[in-house]
Amino acid sequence: MINHELIAEIEQSKKDFDKLMDKLIKNLKREEKILRLSDKRQRKEYDELQKKYEEVKKLQEAQEKLIDSFIKIIASAIDAKSKYIGAHCERVPILTAMLTKEVSESDEIDFKIENEDQEKEISTAAWLHDCGKIVTPDFVMNKSVKLETLYNRIHEIRTRFEVLYRDLIIEAMKRKMNGEDEKKVDKWLDEELKKLKEDFEFLAKINNSKQELTEEEIQRIKEIADREWYRYFDDTLGLSEDELSRVPESEKNQKLPVKEKLLADKKRHIVKRSKREINDLKRHNFHMEIPKNMYNYGEIYNLTIPRGTLTPEEYFKIQEHVIMTIKMLESLPFPERFKNVPLYAGAHHEAINGKGYPRRLKGDEIPIPARIMAIADIFEALTAKDRPYKDKKTLSQAIDILVQKALEGELDKDILAIFIKSRVFEKYAKMFLSKDQIDEVDVDYYLKKLKGN
Ligand SMILES: [Fe+2]
Ligand SMILES: [Fe+2]
Repeated sequence: MINHELIAEIEQSKKDFDKLMDKLIKNLKREEKILRLSDKRQRKEYDELQKKYEEVKKLQEAQEKLIDSFIKIIASAIDAKSKYIGAHCERVPILTAMLTKEVSESDEIDFKIENEDQEKEISTAAWLHDCGKIVTPDFVMNKSVKLETLYNRIHEIRTRFEVLYRDLIIEAMKRKMNGEDEKKVDKWLDEELKKLKEDFEFLAKINNSKQELTEEEIQRIKEIADREWYRYFDDTLGLSEDELSRVPESEKNQKLPVKEKLLADKKRHIVKRSKREINDLKRHNFHMEIPKNMYNYGEIYNLTIPRGTLTPEEYFKIQEHVIMTIKMLESLPFPERFKNVPLYAGAHHEAINGKGYPRRLKGDEIPIPARIMAIADIFEALTAKDRPYKDKKTLSQAIDILVQKALEGELDKDILAIFIKSRVFEKYAKMFLSKDQIDEVDVDYYLKKLKGN
């Protein structure tokens, strides 16, 4: 009896145990299923995330490529703007990168390229260093004779000489008709016509002159300018609104004929600079001497430019490209890792001695990449073989000029010493210079000079 009860109890316990086990197994299986499902879901999510990451990466790469192409398009547009600058914007970043590497590897300067981003930041600045030239008027950038505006105004002045020439012939005829001695009149006419031709040839030569004008030449220009002729036509007809706005009231509705000077500096030749522009330049902390006028097209004013073809107003316009570079680049939302692009690009015309532009930074205020770029910028400009009408310098001539500039305090002596010592200029020369430009450079001589020995 006791045994039966015991057996029944054991059986009941076994059943309960089996039930419990069943329940446990079921629960375990369910848990396992849940786990498997969640694992699958997690894997799926992970895969999806991975896929998205790849897509974002690709998108980012495509975007970077697009931005790089934009940068290069801007550089080639500037190069295409003027035949006088050749492929400047394309070669400066190459030379900048070459010199940056040498400076980074040298122990003589406290400057190291730590990562790819830093390298890219400098390269971007070099590609965009002259981007402001996009707004420099072509006629200023390409001004190749003193009287050039949108065209060479020597033709206009020659026409006045043509008028005077004919006036002399008419005067001679009148004098003969009035009974004057023919021989005497002919002699006078020959002399006058000869003088007129010589005067024009002189002005034409001055127009083309790249040499420093002498006091005598300036005086002669003024004397020729003073000669008079008669204008029978209204010179306010056919003008654009802009042109007409520069004509003073006293020159409107004049009684004809009007006695004119052969060459003149007139009020209408002056294009004023707006106050807004002056204030804007000051607000940006640009310390440059700003000419009062935007342009002065005066004929005597331009012909008497002491040296070269640019008036102070046009010279400022050229220098203004770096102001535009800064303004343009500062308005772009560069990511943190490229935040120095405007600073580097905008300081490529600054000088160690503080005489550069546009902010007159000096010494350590100029970041090292900008000092490197300044050397690359000048060296490229001196040696470019694709600038028409400009002497391309040989290696030794270009290095000599750079050393001169460093000794005068314009360029960084230590960086220039690395440029010369590493012979990186030779590597560059093999890539971009013609054979006749590649000559021997006395490296030791220039290094000693830079070290002050
Ligand atoms: Fe520049
Ligand atoms: Fe440049």
